[in-house]
Amino acid sequence: MWAPTLIAALVTLGYTRASDNKFPDGFLMGCGTASYQVEGAWNEDGKGENIWDHMFHEHPEYGTNGDNGDVACDSYHKYKEDVQMLKALNVDVYRFSISWPRILPTGDVDIINQPGIDYYNKLINELLDNGIQPMVTMYHWDLPQALQYIGGWTNGLMADYFVEYARVLFENFGDRVKWWITFNEPAMVVKGYASKDRAPSQPAPGVGDYLAAHTLLRAHGRVYRLYHQQYRAAQNGSVGISLDVQGSAPLTNSTEDVVAADRYQQFEAGHFAHPIFSQEGDYPAIMRQRVDANSKREGRPRSRLPIFTPEEVKYIRGAADFFGLNHYWTDFVTDEVNATSPSKAGDTGATAVRNGLHSWGFRNILNWIVNEYPGYSIFVTENGVETSTGLNDIDRIQYYKEYLTELQQAVNIDKVPVIGYIAWSLMDNLEWTEGFTRKFGLYEVDFNSPNRTRTAKDSAAFMAKIFLSKKVPEDDGCLS
Ligand code: FCB
Repeated sequence: MWAPTLIAALVTLGYTRASDNKFPDGFLMGCGTASYQVEGAWNEDGKGENIWDHMFHEHPEYGTNGDNGDVACDSYHKYKEDVQMLKALNVDVYRFSISWPRILPTGDVDIINQPGIDYYNKLINELLDNGIQPMVTMYHWDLPQALQYIGGWTNGLMADYFVEYARVLFENFGDRVKWWITFNEPAMVVKGYASKDRAPSQPAPGVGDYLAAHTLLRAHGRVYRLYHQQYRAAQNGSVGISLDVQGSAPLTNSTEDVVAADRYQQFEAGHFAHPIFSQEGDYPAIMRQRVDANSKREGRPRSRLPIFTPEEVKYIRGAADFFGLNHYWTDFVTDEVNATSPSKAGDTGATAVRNGLHSWGFRNILNWIVNEYPGYSIFVTENGVETSTGLNDIDRIQYYKEYLTELQQAVNIDKVPVIGYIAWSLMDNLEWTEGFTRKFGLYEVDFNSPNRTRTAKDSAAFMAKIFLSKKVPEDDGCLS
């Protein structure tokens, strides 16, 4: 991809048209949150315990400063204020997630918790009354603990439970929700089955994470087909999945590092993207080959990477109306491995030794996705940066200016079919095990006040202008 300096030279030469700093008509913009990170009300009105509630209550030391999502931003009570903040930001779309155990406290459909349904109906209606489209993530990491007691995502039956949960969502909200995301970042979900410090804290690296991934992919495929067969005709929405795809650049220009960076991306992004978005479906060939060979070498009678039936390959392939992309940074990868065995890192045989905020990596990855998985529209479902500069968050403004400039060039110059963009996040929130110390919000939240007072940061005004005009101000500086 072109370096920023070269782009600047071309801009000076008048290469880009005036309209190049404007997103196309119909381009949707907004911001996002996730239930456990903002809602609070962890045990109110019949909500069941989720795996994060459970882990942080049992092991506060896995978090930071004892922070947890018991109250978080208290959005369960303050959702109307949240919608007013969104309105002030001029968003088209609000991406939020539904807490599975708030709707189904046991994880199963034996109990449907009406107050949970009521809460999301109120939020959805408040958004629509304010001219904002809801984009709903069905699973942003908060599995009912009751389902973890039967193995969580490592139990293949979880695909059935997820289908039944999804049906409850389509039945109750599908008349008004037109954007659905099955899973947020499945690659992060499965880390909870490889290490202790992410829920559900079940460290079985190189085995549990592959098993969980297999179930997630089957669950995704089945929910997509369910919508397609039973709801699409009447509800006319779109169903996708949000994959975290960071840039993967070789650390040096040695052939080994170049090949390693590619292999790294196949294990990271390809693990989930290839079965759904590639022409042939199934796991990337390089994953199959390496995990099978390592499993054999370890003396195992079966591969640690589970095998899809031909029927599964078929229903998972093509199971998306759009590619949801969460992108934050670029990794620099080398052909070395420094990992215990078995593990996904060991199977990858490559390591990201450092990462950085490089906006060119965003344009690069958008082009990579469209070349690797042609035929899909991309919806950027997360992009953002943490800062510690408080209300005067000039560094966040700079980040968005550069990343959105690259996005626009990808759309207007490279013709990558991106249809929307969601900034992470509407407000500071519980950054999982990093607690309230990591701040990604356009609004600050005072976690010391019982009122959880929200205050707009400087970036809120900056983004409100972009969301309204769909134009990015000229770039006048670089992060990298
Ligand atoms: C993403 C998560 C989101 C938030 C951001 C900073 O990986 O999807 O919930 O934590 O990172």
